[in-house]
Amino acid sequence: MNPPAPDSFCATAQAQPNIALIKYWGKRDVELNLPAVGSISLTLDQLWTRTKVCFVRVAGADRVRINGRTDAVSAQRVSACLDLLRQRAGVDWRAEVTSESNFPLAAGLASSASGFAALVRAAAAALELPLSPAELSRLARRGSGSAARSIHGGFVEWDRGACADGSDSHARQLMPAADWPLRVLVAITTTAPKEVGSREGMLHSADTSPFYPAWLTAQSGDLEAARGALRTRDFEALAAVSEHSCLKMHALAMSARPGLLYWNGATVEGMRRVRALRTQGLPVFFTVDAGPQLKVVCEESALLEARAALLELEGVHEVIECGLGEGARLLETAFGGTS
Ligand code: DP6
Repeated sequence: MNPPAPDSFCATAQAQPNIALIKYWGKRDVELNLPAVGSISLTLDQLWTRTKVCFVRVAGADRVRINGRTDAVSAQRVSACLDLLRQRAGVDWRAEVTSESNFPLAAGLASSASGFAALVRAAAAALELPLSPAELSRLARRGSGSAARSIHGGFVEWDRGACADGSDSHARQLMPAADWPLRVLVAITTTAPKEVGSREGMLHSADTSPFYPAWLTAQSGDLEAARGALRTRDFEALAAVSEHSCLKMHALAMSARPGLLYWNGATVEGMRRVRALRTQGLPVFFTVDAGPQLKVVCEESALLEARAALLELEGVHEVIECGLGEGARLLETAFGGTS
């Protein structure tokens, strides 16, 4: 006699947030979540999201808990992403999702990046779908664009692609973390949720900023400059193009109507401080996403001094120290009786 078929299919995966050096801002297709521009990022260690997905052999509404809480908007985004995996597997099973992160959500620390990368990795394993990294990245992209990059570790590029169906828009690793072990300091300047999320902010910028067409035209040059700086480990060149991309992205947000201002006073003071340190010869530069947290990239040799300088700033609550980390990975699977 055959053993009874399992009733539940569970898998747990971990992914880490990434920080974009050459920013993604704007979409060429909202439905498929295709970016208007390519982007380049660093995947972090230390910060993580761990997500368990259990499919149970019955139809019905998914149950989604993120850091112990249920919220309808996030649950809907999670279910929509899981639907893509269920379609591939040809099942309509209900999912139970529990996700924990060790850093403040919705505070400009790209929790959606690690969240959707871990979700897709876990769901694919639970459904026993043998997906390539490129396929995982395309699926994670549908949940949140930046999640496409967290599938990979180290230095990562997410291609804009040209195909209307998005088949060529996924991330790939440019260089493993060990090839240039940069450090990242995340200065927390608020723990409040951000007012205007990235998704809304980039659509609003594309619709109303007069500078948006220029952003689109210049991106391929920035990507090329960043790739060249990574290839030759040219910190000065990477600093210049990364700060340029960050400030340009914020210029789009500020020049939207009405303008979006993601920074607070500590963000601005932090940027000034980082530039002063670089003028003194320290290998350090800043970047800021759609929130007020300041991310500082540096060589190991500058770490202590940069950290001390950030902690001195009024309005900096905490500085989290990271290295570069791995891509999304499976932690465990369990197939069995109804959970
Ligand atoms: C400023 O990936 O959060 O962090 O695709 O709409 O989910 P959606 O947007 P999201 O945007 C990230 C924007 C950014 C820059 C970046 O990570 O490249």
